[in-house]
Amino acid sequence: MLRAIRRRGAVEQIPPSAPEERVPWRLRLTEDVDAAIARDPAVHSRVEVVLGYPGLHTIWLHHAVTHPLWLRGHRLSARLISQWMRGRTGIEIHPGARIGRRFFIDHGNGVVIGETAEIGDDVMIYHDVTLGGRSLAKVKRHPTIEDGVVIGAGARVLGPITVGTGAQIGANAVVVRDVPAGAVVVGVPGKARMPGGEALPDAPTPTPPTPDDVLVDPAIWI
Ligand SMILES: CC(C)(COP(=O)(O)OP(=O)(O)OC[C@H]1O[C@@H](n2cnc3c(N)ncnc32)[C@H](O)[C@@H]1OP(=O)(O)O)[C@@H](O)C(=O)NCCC(=O)NCCS
Repeated sequence: MLRAIRRRGAVEQIPPSAPEERVPWRLRLTEDVDAAIARDPAVHSRVEVVLGYPGLHTIWLHHAVTHPLWLRGHRLSARLISQWMRGRTGIEIHPGARIGRRFFIDHGNGVVIGETAEIGDDVMIYHDVTLGGRSLAKVKRHPTIEDGVVIGAGARVLGPITVGTGAQIGANAVVVRDVPAGAVVVGVPGKARMPGGEALPDAPTPTPPTPDDVLVDPAIWI
C-alpha cells in the first residue's frame, strides 16, 4: 500500500518503510572493516582501514546519523550533514537511501546514491558509481541492489530496476533494465550474460512514472 502526501500541490507516493535491521555498533564496525580487508588487496592493517577509508566513514555517518535523522523527519539537517560529508569524501549518499550490512565503497570519489535506492548485504561498489533516477516523479525512482552485487567503476544504474543477487556490473556500464541474479552486465546500454558467456534476453525497460507530480527541481534525480 502506498501512502500519499500532498506537498506543493503534488502527490508524493512513497512505499512504506519495512523495518530495517538494527545491527549493534560493535558488530557493524567489525564486519565493515572485515569486508574492506576481504575485498581490497591493497589493505595492510585494520587501523589503515578505520582511519583511511572514506567509503567506510561515509557509510558509518549514514547509519549512525543521517539515515536515523531522515527517518525521524529531520530532513534538512540530514541533508546538510550528508552534503558536508560529500564535501569531505566525494561520496553522496542521500539520507533516505536504505543500505544493508557490509556495504563497501572502494576509493569512493564520485559515488552518488539516490534517495529511494535500496542496497542489500555484502554489496561492493567502486568509485564514480551512480545509483540514480530516470524520473522527476517523487516515487521509488532509484535502483534496488540485491545481496552480493559488485558494481564496477564508473557504472550508472538508473531507474527503479532490480539488480539480482550476486550480479556483476562492469566498469562504465549503463544499466537501465532489471539484471537477473548472477548475471554479468557490460556496455552501454548494458547487456547481460551469464558468467559462462551465454547472452541473456533484454529485460523490459521500466517506463519512468509520469504522474502529474513532476517537480521542477532536477536535484531530485540524484
Ligand atoms: C564486467 C566484469 C565484472 C567482467 O568480468 P569477467 O566475467 O571476468 O569477464 P571477462 O574479463 O572474462 O570479460 C568477458 C568479456 O567482457 C568484456 N568486458 C569485461 N569488462 C568489460 C567492461 N567493463 N566493459 C565492456 N566490456 C567488458 C571483455 O573484454 C570480454 O570480451 P570478449 O568476450 O569479447 O573477449 C569486469 O571486467 C569488470 O568490469 N569489473 C569491474 C572492475 C572495476 O571496476 N575495477 C575498478 C578497480 S579501481
